[in-house]
Amino acid sequence: MVEDYKVFRVHKNEKGLKSGFEQQAFEPIAEDQVRIKVKHSSINYKDALGVTGKGKIFRKLPIVPGIDAVGEVVESKYADCPKGSSVIVTGCGLGELHDGGYGQYVTVPGDWVVALPDGLSMKEAMILGTAGFTAAICVYRLELNGLKPSHGPVLVTGASGGVGSVAVDILSSRSYEVVAVSRKAEAEGYLKSIGAKAVIKPDEIIGLKRPLESTKYAAAIDNLGGQALGGVLACIDLWGSVASVGLALDHELRTTVMPFILRGVSLLGISSTNCPYPLRKELWQKLAGEYKPRHLEEIVKGEVPLSQIDQAFMPFIERKTSGRYIVNCQE
Ligand SMILES: NC(=O)c1ccc[n+]([C@@H]2O[C@H](COP(=O)([O-])OP(=O)(O)OC[C@H]3O[C@@H](n4cnc5c(N)ncnc54)[C@H](OP(=O)(O)O)[C@@H]3O)[C@@H](O)[C@H]2O)c1
Repeated sequence: MVEDYKVFRVHKNEKGLKSGFEQQAFEPIAEDQVRIKVKHSSINYKDALGVTGKGKIFRKLPIVPGIDAVGEVVESKYADCPKGSSVIVTGCGLGELHDGGYGQYVTVPGDWVVALPDGLSMKEAMILGTAGFTAAICVYRLELNGLKPSHGPVLVTGASGGVGSVAVDILSSRSYEVVAVSRKAEAEGYLKSIGAKAVIKPDEIIGLKRPLESTKYAAAIDNLGGQALGGVLACIDLWGSVASVGLALDHELRTTVMPFILRGVSLLGISSTNCPYPLRKELWQKLAGEYKPRHLEEIVKGEVPLSQIDQAFMPFIERKTSGRYIVNCQE
C-alpha cells in the first residue's frame, strides 16, 4: 500500500517564494470531496506567473500549483462522482486557493469535477485545459450574441498562445474566416496550419488610436487588453461583439463609449475560473463534439514530466512559448 505521493509545492519564506518536490501523506478525505489520481495537468501562463512570483496568483501558501487536472477518481465521498470515474477539474480556485494539479494525487470538492466526456481522451482534455475551456466560452458567448460565419472575419489577438491557438482552431472549424494577430513572424505557418486565413502584426491593431476606425471585423477574441483592445473595439462592425479574455499586453482599457453607442458593439467579459457549473459541463461536452479542435496534435508543443516541472516555467515568463504544454503527473 502506497502511503505517500509526490507533489510540487510552493512556500513563502523571508526571501520570497521557494518551490520544490515533497512527499505528501495520504489523509482521509472530507464529506463531499473526491481524491483523483492525476494523469495530466497543464501549464498556463497563470501557473508560471504564480510559481515564479511574477504575479500574485496564490491566495494561500504553501500551495501545490496547477490550475488544471485530469485523472481517475480513486476515492469518493460525493455521490455524483463515483470511484473509477474519469474527470476534469479546471479553475474553481484549483492551484490558486486550493492545492492543484502538480501532484500525483489531488483532493477537491466533488462539485468542481466534470466527467470526462466521451470523445475526449485525458491527454486531449489537458491540451485544452483552462486555455481551451476559455476559448470555448468565448465562442459560445459570441454566438449567443448573434455571431454567424456570414457576418465577416473574426479577429483573434495573442493568437499563437494557448487560448488564441484553440480559439483559431474552433472558429475556423466552424467556418469562420479567422484573422490571427501575432508578434511572432515564425508563427505564421503554424497559425495558418490550424485554420487562420491571414496573420497580421499587433501594430496594425495597437496603432489604431481613434475610438472609431474603418470597420473590418464582425467580432474578436482579445487576449491582450490595453491599447490592443481599444484598437480592436474601434474596427468592429455594426452590432459585432468582442470577447475580452486577457491582459497579456496591459490590464487597462483605453477606449470611449463611441463603439458601443454608435455601432452597437458589445464587449463580453470572459471569466473561466468561476464559470457556472451547468455551463461548465455543457462546454466540456461541446469541446468533445462540435467545438473539438481539429489540430490538437499541432497545438500541443510539449509534455513535461512532473519530476521536471520546476524547470518549465521561465519560457512562459520570457514569452518564448506558443500553443499548449501538458504535464505527465505520474512521471
Ligand atoms: N479570462 C479568463 O478566464 C482567462 C483564462 C485563461 C487565460 N486568460 C488570460 O488570457 C491571456 C492569454 O492566456 P494564454 O494562456 O493563451 O497565455 P499565453 O499562452 O502566454 O499566450 C499569450 C499570447 O499573447 C501574446 N502576447 C504576450 N505578450 C504580449 C505583448 N506584450 N504584446 C503583444 N502580444 C503579447 C503572445 O502571442 P503572439 O506571440 O502570437 O502575439 C502570447 O503567446 C493571458 O493574459 C491570460 O492571463 C484569461
